[in-house]
Amino acid sequence: MKSRFKLAIFAIIIALSNNCITSKTDHFTKDLPQPELPLQFSWANVNGINYLSYVRNQLAPRLCDSGWAFSVTSSLNDRIKIKRQNAGPDFILSPQVLISCNDDSNGCRGGSPQTAYEYILRNNITDETCSPYTGRDFRDGYQCSSLTVCMECWPKVGCKARDDAYIYSIESWDQVKGEEQMKQEIFNHGPISCVINSTVEFRNYTSGILNPPDSPTQITHSLSIVGWGEDEKQTKYWIARNSLGIFWGENGFIRIVRGKNALNIESDCSYGRIKDTWSQQIRNNTSFIKTNSSFISNGQYEHKVYEIINSKSEKDIIQQAKDELKQIFQDSYQKYQPLVESISSSFSDNIELDESTLPSNFTWGNVNGVNYLTQIKNQHNPQYCGGCWSFAVTSSLQDRIKILRNRTDIPDVILSNQMVINCHLGGSCSTGGVSLITYYFLSQIGVVEDSCMPYQAKDQWLPVCNASQQCISCELPSAPISNTTDISSICPAQTKYPYKKWKVSKFGHIAGVKQMKSEIFSRGPISCTIDATDNLENNYQGGIYSEKLKVPIPNHYVSVVGWGQTLEGEDYWIVRNSWGTYWGEQGFFKLKMHEDNLGLEYGCSWGVIDLQQ
Ligand SMILES: *[C@@H]1O[C@H](CO)[C@@H](O)[C@H](O)[C@H]1NC(C)=O
Ligand SMILES: *[C@@H]1O[C@H](CO)[C@@H](O)[C@H](O)[C@H]1NC(C)=O
Ligand SMILES: *[C@@H]1O[C@H](CO)[C@@H](O)[C@H](O)[C@H]1NC(C)=O
Ligand SMILES: *[C@@H]1O[C@H](CO)[C@@H](O)[C@H](O)[C@H]1NC(C)=O
Ligand SMILES: *[C@@H]1O[C@H](CO)[C@@H](O)[C@H](O)[C@H]1NC(C)=O
Ligand SMILES: *[C@@H]1O[C@H](CO)[C@@H](O)[C@H](O)[C@H]1NC(C)=O
Ligand SMILES: *[C@@H]1O[C@H](CO)[C@@H](O)[C@H](O)[C@H]1NC(C)=O
Ligand SMILES: *[C@@H]1O[C@H](CO)[C@@H](O)[C@H](O)[C@H]1NC(C)=O
Ligand SMILES: *[C@@H]1O[C@H](CO)[C@@H](O)[C@H](O)[C@H]1NC(C)=O
Ligand SMILES: *[C@@H]1O[C@H](CO)[C@@H](O)[C@H](O)[C@H]1NC(C)=O
Repeated sequence: MKSRFKLAIFAIIIALSNNCITSKTDHFTKDLPQPELPLQFSWANVNGINYLSYVRNQLAPRLCDSGWAFSVTSSLNDRIKIKRQNAGPDFILSPQVLISCNDDSNGCRGGSPQTAYEYILRNNITDETCSPYTGRDFRDGYQCSSLTVCMECWPKVGCKARDDAYIYSIESWDQVKGEEQMKQEIFNHGPISCVINSTVEFRNYTSGILNPPDSPTQITHSLSIVGWGEDEKQTKYWIARNSLGIFWGENGFIRIVRGKNALNIESDCSYGRIKDTWSQQIRNNTSFIKTNSSFISNGQYEHKVYEIINSKSEKDIIQQAKDELKQIFQDSYQKYQPLVESISSSFSDNIELDESTLPSNFTWGNVNGVNYLTQIKNQHNPQYCGGCWSFAVTSSLQDRIKILRNRTDIPDVILSNQMVINCHLGGSCSTGGVSLITYYFLSQIGVVEDSCMPYQAKDQWLPVCNASQQCISCELPSAPISNTTDISSICPAQTKYPYKKWKVSKFGHIAGVKQMKSEIFSRGPISCTIDATDNLENNYQGGIYSEKLKVPIPNHYVSVVGWGQTLEGEDYWIVRNSWGTYWGEQGFFKLKMHEDNLGLEYGCSWGVIDLQQ
């Protein structure tokens, strides 16, 4: 027991010193129109199952009038989820591709859902792990290129295009208008995108059924309508998901009076019929995307996105700050490590089950047919960041929230790695970090959801953790953004609405097969260190990975979500990585159990999420 404990600490220290920087259906759809549709219907709850993807925020980190792109990608995310019958982590289509590449829009200065559907029909689209949202369009350094469509970033070399991006597409798109047509399309096929007039009553909405008076409007906005209902006073309403953050409206949603064309909501809706590209795992070389040749050098797809993102002066400041950060982090490590060790040991809450009572195959990706795993993320976009220690924690906790709630009528909670990095809750992009310390800080400070502080892969060097580091958002514009409006600054702290912080109530560290299996089986995914070798990174394509190393030197963190056994009796772990969907088996990999597994079993940590706080 004692020596195992020592080993775990050893692994953690090594991971720290290596800086975490590796050397590099329609089954559910009803085909015939139903003469009688139900009085209430929502894709948030169809026979107890939620088919809605997470709520996002188009106004962080920058002011961007991209509701048109979000209403389309979110509706399609849901339609994919419906067609896949909720199997597997959600696929999240990239609104960034649309604001960079859809020439028939005006990018962050506005656009229409119809042109977005047309773009996807003609060009296909990639997911968020390929092309994360930056709130920058083709005018602000994010022109359409093979890189903005699917990239991966590294220190020094910058970003390069991937030639193995998963692609998503639609078979057709069309318009609908009027209550009856809209209901038919939603009920039979999934959420739709609707253009609305953005009035002050809409922008100021907090809860209830919005029944707005006619107000002057100059600007339009788009929503994704996911269902409808009727209250006890027989007021009929639509249920729509907005893209202004989880803190806006009713957990990111709004109910708007139905049947009266309020806000013009029933006059300009559109939808896409999703195409199944995932069953056959269709990928493509994103260099097929119309490429601006000036971005290509020597046949390589290296790109200067890094340079574009960071102006020269910004880079100088970052360079300077990196040294300071290192100091701050080393101080905090020295200060917190003994404390964290003693606290986590004091819970004495490590679970040890009799291994013979555990199944030989178990994964949170499929517990009696139900998937409890949340979406795959990518720490390496839109620039390089050694944030694995944070991703291993947030992904494990997101899955644990889904497991604990065991309620399927709420979209997945996606936690903010950027807040963890901004506030130095266990490390930084440039220094790496320690998951156990992150769990400790999450017990003290907590972490917001991603729509408060979307990932930017960026270090923040001030030793503060105030609202500016935790939750930012611009306001939805009340007038059109013109071609010359400066929209380049980061949005301010979001203080208008309260926002939730998720906390852990206890945490600890474990090592070895028995403790790992016991913890995963009892409470959910855990975070572990590994020695992420070049071979794993560059050559793993699928199957059970194994590599013999004399002394594995942990330099990376992953989340372990289950285990299995082959027919030949070989045991393996099922592991979630944070290198995008294009890496490994849709972002996951299998690793040999017991030996030659990059040191996976040396040191792991876990946290218990507190649903009450
Ligand atoms: C879009 O994807 C489909 C496969 O679903 C492929 O047949 C088609 O060629 C792709 N279109 C483009 C422009 O790459
Ligand atoms: C909307 O909210 C703003 C503050 O955010 C306030 O100044 C304004 O009076 C509100 N307007 C209405 C019509 O409620
Ligand atoms: C609402 O927007 C439409 C265009 O989408 C416009 O024709 C109409 O005049 C607007 N209504 C108001 C009250 O501004
Ligand atoms: C991707 O496309 C580029 C340019 O057409 C080509 O050089 C490269 O070999 C392709 N990669 C694959 C895996 O086909
Ligand atoms: C990949 O892109 C090429 C070039 O546009 C296209 O011809 C091909 O159909 C695409 N394949 C798939 C599977 O999308
Ligand atoms: C390609 O990029 C260069 C440099 O950013 C720009 O001047 C040029 O207009 C772009 N060409 C196209 C076709 O977008
Ligand atoms: C979720 O609830 C169902 C029905 O009550 C139960 O059978 C199942 O074991 C629960 N799952 C988890 C992960 O708690
Ligand atoms: C957060 O702290 C920074 C640095 O001290 C300061 O510039 C900023 O105004 C603060 N933000 C808030 C919302 O307090
Ligand atoms: C703004 O820029 C877009 C894209 O360059 C262009 O299509 C549009 O005509 C411009 N609008 C105005 C009012 O200049
Ligand atoms: C475990 O999974 C493998 C394939 O992944 C399967 O062959 C085997 O039968 C499963 N074992 C059990 C006990 O379900």
